[in-house]
Amino acid sequence: MKELPKVELHLHLEGAAPPELIRRMGQEKSINLTGVFAEDGTYKYTDFVHFLEVYEAATQVLKTPDDYARLTRAVLEESAEQGVVYCETFLSPDFCGGSDVGAWREYLHAMQEAADRAERDLGITLRGIVTCIRHFGPEKAKASALCAAETAGDWLVGFGIAGDENKGRPGDFAYSFDMAREAGLRLTAHAGEWGGPQSVREALRDLKVERIGHGVRAIEDLALVDELAENGVVLEVCPGSNVTLGVYSKWSAHPIERLRERGVKVTVSTDDPPFFHTTMSREYEALNRTFGWDEEIFDQIARTSLDAAFCDEATKTRIAKRLETS
Ligand code: ADE
Ligand code: ZN
Repeated sequence: MKELPKVELHLHLEGAAPPELIRRMGQEKSINLTGVFAEDGTYKYTDFVHFLEVYEAATQVLKTPDDYARLTRAVLEESAEQGVVYCETFLSPDFCGGSDVGAWREYLHAMQEAADRAERDLGITLRGIVTCIRHFGPEKAKASALCAAETAGDWLVGFGIAGDENKGRPGDFAYSFDMAREAGLRLTAHAGEWGGPQSVREALRDLKVERIGHGVRAIEDLALVDELAENGVVLEVCPGSNVTLGVYSKWSAHPIERLRERGVKVTVSTDDPPFFHTTMSREYEALNRTFGWDEEIFDQIARTSLDAAFCDEATKTRIAKRLETS
C-alpha cells in the first residue's frame, strides 16, 4: 500500500506532529507537557473534547516560525514515506502568532520554505488551508480569515473551519467565509462528524463550501446523500479518525463505502495521524480489508482527490503525471 501514489486533502499540521518532536521541543523549552503523553510515548486523551484539549496543549511548544518549519519538515517526511505525492494541510493563525497578520506572514513564509525544500528533496507537494477554530468563536475566526485573505495565493489556497462542531452554528462564521471567498480562496468546512445531516446542510447553505471535512453523518439522510452526489460535493473522509474517536464503533460500520456506492465523491485522509495511530497506508489497508477496495478503486480515489484539490491547474497537471506513472 505504501507504494500507491496518494493525495491527501485533510491533514491538520499540528495534529500530524510526531509525538517525539513535540516531546523534544518541550524539553528544549522546558515546557511542562504533563497529561499529553501516555506511558508508551503516544498522545493520550479520553474523548473528542479531551483530544482537542491535548492537541492544544501539545501545540504550546510550537512557539516560533522556525518551530513550524521543523514541524512541516517532519510531517512531510512521514507523508512522503507513505506514498503521498500531494497534500493539503490545515493551518491556524491562532496558533501562529495569535492571528496577527504580520506574525502570520513570518510563520507562513517559514512553512512554505520548508515545503519547497521537501518538494525538491522528497518529491511531495504541499499547499495550505487556513482554518479557524469553531470553539474559539466567530471573532477569532474573523482575525484568521483576515490572515488568510492577506496571504491568499498559489500556496495558501483555501479557508476552512475545524474544532468542536457542537459549539455554535456554521452561519456564525459566514462573515469569515465571505471574506475568504472574496480573496479568491477555496472553501471547506468540518461538518457531519459530530453533528448530523443538518450540520452538513448548514455548512453548504451558510458557508457555501465546495468540500466538507468528514461529512460522513450525511448518511443518516439519504436525500442529502443524493444532493451531495448530484452537486459533486467532495467529502474529505477520515475513517480511522472516526473509528478511533468513536463516531463509528468499528470499521465495518463506517459509511464510506455506502456513500461511494451512492455516487458521492469520497476521498481518504488521516486527519491527525499520530493521535489516531494511523497513516495513509494503514487507512488503505483497512479499506482493503473491510470493503475489499483494490488498486483500481484507490486509483479512482486519488484522481477524485486531485480533481478536488485547491491548487492551480499547472500543479494538478504535474501531480497527475505522478499518479499515471505507477
Ligand atoms: N481538529 C483536529 N482534528 C479535528 C477533528 N477531527 N475534528 C474537528 N476538529 C479537529
Ligand atoms: Zn479534521
